[in-house]
Amino acid sequence: MSIKVNEQEKVFHLQTPDSSYIFRVYGKSRLLHLYYGKKINDHAHLEDSLRWFGAGGASIDAEFAHLGSKSVSFDILPQEYGFFGSPDLRKPAFHAQYADGSRITCPVYEGYRITPSKPRLEGLPSVYTENDSECDTLEIFMKDEVTGLRLTYLYSVFNDRDVITRTVIAHNEGKQNIDIKAIMSLMIDFKDDDFDLIHLEGNWARERHVERVPLSRMGANVYSRRGLSAHDHSPFLALARKNADEEHGDVYGFSFVYSGNFEAGVESDRYNQARVYMGINSFDFNWRLEPGQSFTAPEAVAVFSSKGLGGMSRTFHKLYKSRLCRGKFRDKVERPVLINNWEGTRFAFTEEKILDMAKIAKRVGVELFVLDDGWFGKRDEADSSLGDWYPHKEKLPDGVAGLAKKINDLGLDFGLWFEPEMVSPDSDLYRAHPDWALHVEGRGMSQGRNQYVLDLTRKEVQDYIVKFMTENLESAPIVYVKWDYNRHLTEVGSASVPPERQAEVSHRYMLGLYSVLERLRARFPDILFEGCSGGGGRFDAGMLYYFDQYWTSDMTDVVERQFIQEGTSMVMPAITMGSHVSICPNVHIKRVSPLRARGYCAMCGQFGYELDITKCSEEELDEIAEQIVFYKSIREIIHSGEMYRVRSPKGRDGAAWEYISENGKSVAFAVFNILAYPSNYPRRLRMTALDPDARYRLRGTDEVYDGAMLMYSGLAIQPMDDFDGQMFIFDKE
Ligand code: GLA
Repeated sequence: MSIKVNEQEKVFHLQTPDSSYIFRVYGKSRLLHLYYGKKINDHAHLEDSLRWFGAGGASIDAEFAHLGSKSVSFDILPQEYGFFGSPDLRKPAFHAQYADGSRITCPVYEGYRITPSKPRLEGLPSVYTENDSECDTLEIFMKDEVTGLRLTYLYSVFNDRDVITRTVIAHNEGKQNIDIKAIMSLMIDFKDDDFDLIHLEGNWARERHVERVPLSRMGANVYSRRGLSAHDHSPFLALARKNADEEHGDVYGFSFVYSGNFEAGVESDRYNQARVYMGINSFDFNWRLEPGQSFTAPEAVAVFSSKGLGGMSRTFHKLYKSRLCRGKFRDKVERPVLINNWEGTRFAFTEEKILDMAKIAKRVGVELFVLDDGWFGKRDEADSSLGDWYPHKEKLPDGVAGLAKKINDLGLDFGLWFEPEMVSPDSDLYRAHPDWALHVEGRGMSQGRNQYVLDLTRKEVQDYIVKFMTENLESAPIVYVKWDYNRHLTEVGSASVPPERQAEVSHRYMLGLYSVLERLRARFPDILFEGCSGGGGRFDAGMLYYFDQYWTSDMTDVVERQFIQEGTSMVMPAITMGSHVSICPNVHIKRVSPLRARGYCAMCGQFGYELDITKCSEEELDEIAEQIVFYKSIREIIHSGEMYRVRSPKGRDGAAWEYISENGKSVAFAVFNILAYPSNYPRRLRMTALDPDARYRLRGTDEVYDGAMLMYSGLAIQPMDDFDGQMFIFDKE
């Protein structure tokens, strides 16, 4: 049992293998947070630091005011979940407006329930379990007697991983409407703020760069107001103790299983205590709960690691690849090596050109051909036809089915690109249903990449997407779908939603999308789905519930990719990271780098190519063929096991990533260089997590290395040229 309850003292102690999370009921209405961190045995004396009276300026709750100077203020005490309308004036986790105009919420503790396993969240993505022994779920029932608002806090505590998932369900048991203005899925008060904050910042083509900054009284906040989780920040943040590094020290990681507007941050209060929060962005959010209605906040996942950031990432990787990803590809490390025509041809292709590419791709060992944007309607540029999902007659005279058959006849599988959530102003769909695009009557409609976003809050739009996707996917032997999404939500509004519910549209959009994806996944369980959003603009945990993998970034340059893949690997496992080799000079930043380095970097994710292979020289084709053979021989190591970030690319040396296969017998060690040093000499790079008593043979050679030596002295790395890379494979003897 991972949840212990001390009935007398009303203390809840949630335990994972290496962590404890403790809170208690205090008085009628308060839940005090007592501890989250490395596992402890007992809660005694955790409250010693809370017996602190008479702090200047702090107000006392009405419930405790009669205690006078012997009372403590809830502006100081760590709360389990904070509300507006009490002495706790830190960032509230919950904020609502009631029918009488008041905004005060003060729920009273009513009881709890513990059940084995973990409930799925209706209409939302969430981590799941496969049997009841994996985790227990604690529900805490709170009720505001004045308004009839009931809140249920859910904590699912895993027995074999340092994971606690959280969410909150609001239910209106009163007689009048409740407007929820903010509902965080997770809030944790720490007793100090001596942390560094780690988050992932970015932009198009430079997604998820790791930034580590000391937490200060100014606090910190990552967020999206763009309608999708977006390139700018990821719905993730970590708090690390100052001494924590990749493999040592305490780290708390928080990841939000949601793909829309979010906020996550840390407030450091006047007593230097940190409050962490994560939830749907309360900006432009208002959810009306009529009597009898419920609202479920999306899930937040908390991971504790006493083994640094690497330990945190490995916990996320294992959890997400086995208990968030679903379907037949979940455990399939041998996914097809693909070639995508986008960077090779953009919109300018013919069937003949595609078949020429496919023939050569087949020759070098590629398994799947993916036809990207431009195959439908009259689409010859990014300015028309989204919504008209029938074949472009000039480009595909025999339709998608005809091309797919020809590709199959060459011995390759066939995959296809869609951008189902969009509509071009110049499209038959828009001409027929102008009201299906998100818009606000009487206001202009902004275009992003010359397109509008379909109003997925509308059931008829959801049905339309399911219909055309089903027709297309049934019309041809399509085994892979790239689901793209290339703009932000602006002029957010929907005629299908009443005026008082307009501030629900962004979230309703996500619920509509999740519903569409759920229906399509159920209908096409054998199709491999790869998500995409202007590269990796919506690569979040919510999407991994529906998509088997995600296009990490449009940037495929080997240097920039090291930063992107490093940051992505904070939370996402390599098996989910679409990663392709493209040409040189790189189309976006003109860098020239060795093909082998681009290959090794792409092999640290879902491997493929994105270039016009008909333009490759014979030498390049030979090298590509060798890369594919090599990748097929190592993909089980990369995707089945654990990843260690041995060296960050921040600096003149490049990244070094180590992958240990699930059975511990094989190790892939990818080492990159950024800028060469003059008069350089071999440097030693210490590997990690090997068996010190084992001997490791370097694959393809007779060289055998002592495990301890590789870890404590290191592997000698010969000097490399600018932007080069190597991959070493070791097998345990
Ligand atoms: C986005 C994607 C690309 C490609 C184009 C097609 O930018 O990230 O990979 O599919 O759209 O328009």
